[in-house]
Amino acid sequence: MSFPTQRMRRYRKTKTLRRLFEETRLVPSDFILPLFIDEGLKWPESIASMPGVVRHSFSSMAREAAAAYRLGIQGVLLFGIPKKKNAQATEAYNLKGVIPRAVKLLKKEVPELSVITDVCACEYTSHGHCGILRGNDLDNDQSLGLLQRIALSHASAGVDMVAPSDMMDGRIRAIRQALDQKGFSMTSILSYAAKFSTCFYGPFRDAADSAPAFGDRKTYQMQASNSREAMREIQLDVEEGADVVMVKPALMALDIIAKARWRFQHPLWAYHVSGEYAMVKAAGKMGWLDEEEAMAESLLAIKRAGADRIITYWAKEASKFFK
Ligand code: PBG
Repeated sequence: MSFPTQRMRRYRKTKTLRRLFEETRLVPSDFILPLFIDEGLKWPESIASMPGVVRHSFSSMAREAAAAYRLGIQGVLLFGIPKKKNAQATEAYNLKGVIPRAVKLLKKEVPELSVITDVCACEYTSHGHCGILRGNDLDNDQSLGLLQRIALSHASAGVDMVAPSDMMDGRIRAIRQALDQKGFSMTSILSYAAKFSTCFYGPFRDAADSAPAFGDRKTYQMQASNSREAMREIQLDVEEGADVVMVKPALMALDIIAKARWRFQHPLWAYHVSGEYAMVKAAGKMGWLDEEEAMAESLLAIKRAGADRIITYWAKEASKFFK
């Protein structure tokens, strides 16, 4: 039966009816807030390409995390910026390094909050690539040992979940084995399972000072054209023992999120990335878009596509908007 028996506009007649017929809803616990901690800073420092986001000092990071928790946010994702970088990324697994210190501080100041840490070398290498180089490319299997050490250093500081974002093959199994062997069988792994190579990470690399010094990340991050390959990446990480799988970026990969939602039973998270945030911020500043509405629509689209949770720089603002 169709028109005039069926009138779709009946669902939209009033504001309260529209609320009653909402299929997708966002709440503060849908959002995870990324935080940048710069070991060398006394005061927070702004990031030109990410208005509203800062590089934190330890104390400003703890205050921000506490404020996020008060708004209903359940988890933060930490990125560390060390004072010193080198080719072997040795600061990345220093037990007294930036991330272990930040984790311990958060566990003291905001004990209930879930703490997740990025496990990658690019913020710690002088060359800006995500592992150990051999010639001009990453040595996959040698990089696995580095990732294991990084994950262990975070786990021993008490992190709830480690999030490898490097895209080396076999890293989830390697990290799971290392954690289990050292008694961290209850530390979870959030895998950046389908991570695409994209210019939309540009502002993040300004923030984390992690742009590759030469070349790009195309030999390890996926190419945008491939969706079946993304399903295989997720499948492999599930088999290797990931607790949560992630698709990244989010808005540029809504089809991947939707497909993965149907195929896998694991918790599925999406990373609404720096460039996806920055472009709305820029248009908002120019007066070309309503920034708040654009934020709400972006996040709704990601959840509607099938993401269970969203990592977003708007976590606090969105928690107020959708409270
Ligand atoms: C580290 C890492 C990156 C992002 C998250 N973890 C940068 C990259 O892969 O170059 C990007 C996040 C964002 O753009 O918001 N490997």
